[in-house]
Amino acid sequence: MEIDVFTLFPEWFEWFTAQRHVRGALAAGSSLRGLSLREHTPLRGGRVDDTPFGGGAGMVIRVDVVEAALRAYYGVDPVELRTSRRVVALTPGGRVLDDALVDELASEPRLTLLCGRYEGFDERIIEHFASDTISIGRYVLAGGELAAMVVCDAVIRKLPGALGHSESAAEESFSEALEGNPEYPHYTRPAEYRGWHVPDVLLSGDHERIQRWRTERAHERGSNGAR
Ligand SMILES: C[S@@+](CC[C@H](N)C(=O)[O-])C[C@H]1O[C@@H](n2cnc3c(N)ncnc32)[C@H](O)[C@@H]1O
Repeated sequence: MEIDVFTLFPEWFEWFTAQRHVRGALAAGSSLRGLSLREHTPLRGGRVDDTPFGGGAGMVIRVDVVEAALRAYYGVDPVELRTSRRVVALTPGGRVLDDALVDELASEPRLTLLCGRYEGFDERIIEHFASDTISIGRYVLAGGELAAMVVCDAVIRKLPGALGHSESAAEESFSEALEGNPEYPHYTRPAEYRGWHVPDVLLSGDHERIQRWRTERAHERGSNGAR
């Protein structure tokens, strides 16, 4: 999978791409680039934003700036871009990220994420360049970079090479294997700590009972609200 993130802070993604699971996915053939929204700006002094029409606080990322960045990297009119790759604008009010959406994104061969700053994007960027908008939750961050990292992290975990054990992503919270429920609880050594005991069943060696116990706990968490 090819992931490009357009941002005013491409250097933030150097740290992210150095993380072990990301390196694993990159080694297995995926790519992740942090690309500058500022580098190709047609405005003087590296400017990317302007004051909002109609007045109000804050600055808005300009449509001509985003067009210039997308054209420079892809060599096509950005209006055409969404026919060949999914172009997602990160916005607080977008479709809220969940496991189903992560699966959907992980199945895309090419994904572009647009990170806003300040008051956000000129709406024409969303209307004419983006395929859709995604939010990582109903709260407001200072910029789209951390949201892009959340999206990338969740997507990359599903890609070949990211996780050491090939089964690790299969039976996780919200997966089909757990029928969409949160995952069951895990325990490790010591079996007793400050009088807190690991459930006996997990020490029984009876794999059928253990599996049944885990399924029941996952169901319980699904109906009681996740912990
Ligand atoms: C300060 S926010 C803009 C908030 C905007 N004025 C509003 O009220 O919806 C700047 C940028 O951060 C990103 N951002 C902030 N919160 C986000 C969230 N919950 N999910 C995804 N992106 C977010 C978006 O790219 C946004 O354009």
